[in-house]
Amino acid sequence: MIPESFIQDVLARTDIVSLIERYVPLKKGGANYMACCPFHNEKSPSFSVSPTKQFYHCFGCGAHGTAIGFLMEYSGMSFPEAIKDLAQQAGLKIPEDNAPQQDRAQISSLLDVMGRATRFYREQLKHSQKAIEYLKQRGLTGEIAARFGIGYAPDDWQGLHAVFPNDYDSPALLEAGLVIQNEAGRRYDRFRDRVMFPILDQRGNIIGFGGRVIGQGEPKYLNSPETPLFEKGRELYGLFQARQAIRESGVVVVVEGYMDVVALAQYGFGSAVATLGTATTATHIQKLFRQSERVVFCFDGDKAGRKAARRALESCLDQLADDREVRFLFLPPEHDPDSFVREQGLEAFHRAIHDALPLSEFLLRELRGELNLATAEDRAKLVHEAKALIPKISAPVLQLQTVRMLAQDVEMSSDEVSRALGLRVTSPRNKAAARPAGRRTAPAGPLRQMLRLLGTQPQLIEHLPADAVSLAGDGPEASILQTFLDAHDHHGFSTSTVAALFESCQDETQKFILGELLQASDEARADDAAAREELEGHIINLRIALLNHEHAELTQRIQQGERLNQEEMLHFKALSAQKQTLRSGQKSA
Ligand code: UTP
Ligand code: MN
Repeated sequence: MIPESFIQDVLARTDIVSLIERYVPLKKGGANYMACCPFHNEKSPSFSVSPTKQFYHCFGCGAHGTAIGFLMEYSGMSFPEAIKDLAQQAGLKIPEDNAPQQDRAQISSLLDVMGRATRFYREQLKHSQKAIEYLKQRGLTGEIAARFGIGYAPDDWQGLHAVFPNDYDSPALLEAGLVIQNEAGRRYDRFRDRVMFPILDQRGNIIGFGGRVIGQGEPKYLNSPETPLFEKGRELYGLFQARQAIRESGVVVVVEGYMDVVALAQYGFGSAVATLGTATTATHIQKLFRQSERVVFCFDGDKAGRKAARRALESCLDQLADDREVRFLFLPPEHDPDSFVREQGLEAFHRAIHDALPLSEFLLRELRGELNLATAEDRAKLVHEAKALIPKISAPVLQLQTVRMLAQDVEMSSDEVSRALGLRVTSPRNKAAARPAGRRTAPAGPLRQMLRLLGTQPQLIEHLPADAVSLAGDGPEASILQTFLDAHDHHGFSTSTVAALFESCQDETQKFILGELLQASDEARADDAAAREELEGHIINLRIALLNHEHAELTQRIQQGERLNQEEMLHFKALSAQKQTLRSGQKSA
């Protein structure tokens, strides 16, 4: 966990305008900077960057975020990676870093040897007719080989000695997995006589290799071991090279093999990545969704492919959202993507991707399996099986849709199925009952206006009345207000606090509201007195809105024929007078 105050420090020391400018040319337009949005295709600029709020927002596609969010979206970094990157640029030291100085030195020396080895392998490829022939025969051009940094490890027990003449025995070579040391302490190259596929992380660092035997042989692919640089369950082969194509096509396709990625790129399909001989993990899925809302898993048509698809399905259910789309493509059993695109061409592959099975259908197909739905027993089994998957779907509407599809299969109503799956059935009556008595949600309008003002003029937080939090009720806006106040007490409250809160917010509704605050246009900055007056105005509106609410509730009870007790009656009468007082106070102020 990165402390929120650190996120705030990083954002305070980062200038979002100069950060974004490195990737996207910006033009000044009024208080903000404008550009054509890097996240969708457009001809006229609707992407705006606010230097005061340190926030970007696209009026076209709705993309928005802070400097951290930009790095994540644009270069696919994870949250901690983006923070680290910005912290480094700002010269800040990451607190309670689990990677102390020593580890960082180790990482950089490992990266260094990996880089040197890659250059060596690439150089060796030029001198190996055999390896060049092999790649040619697999249909690859020199251009694609260069794009993926493909090389050749010579048939030599200590080939790397040539690039590491003085440090072949250094710990880094062993730790990077480039050499193996036998019991006698003698070292030899791990990769010999193999075509080398460098594995890059999202910043383009080389963190591992896959080495393919030329022709027949075992193992077909030899991979780097897990090292401090390389963790198979996190990495996706080809992601670094695919970023732009993914952005442009709006879809990322996950395949099984190195050669599938490279061959697809060779045939003009650049948005493919591969898991590295492991099952698809939750981390993989997070990375994928960070790149694109549409993910297609493309597995070989064999039994292993089906199994891999099932694993991928299970890993992604709890990361679905209703604006995300996951599909599954099964190629004919004799094909993998490499042979498919080679034989049938790019168009056919595009069509196959387009027609891939939606997740919901694949899920139901998996569940149905061999069941015979003509029998009540098997229909019951189907619902029973579904219990392990459908409740995990984190996209509420898709979950409901899937329940409906299942309900048709098993000849039950959706509500019956939902209940059997242990899902909450929400009827309007339940909703009303779910709200605990005595709690209330304050009217969101005036509250949000107040928050928006605080977001642009943080110094106003000093002037909030003592009962501000209780006025705010218990909705998400109230939590935000409370968080503002906490931040103010702990480390002072500034515009970058809002951006930092946005970044560390776990609650989707709150995050949405904070995003809205940050996107609100910068009105001409009123002077301090005028701003205070505006704040008071919002507070009064809030009080009036609350009184209105109470008044309406009591009125409704009276209209429904309920008799109020004496105290309530007095209160009811007092409400109008209170509103009157507030209004006149507002006018005279
Ligand atoms: P495949 O056996 O399907 O290989 O393994 P492929 O990608 O079609 O390879 P080519 O076309 O024969 O060159 C799929 C993936 O599984 C991992 C690799 O990541 C490979 O790309 N694998 C396979 C290994 O790690 N080791 C192996 O020995 C075999
Ligand atoms: Mn293959």
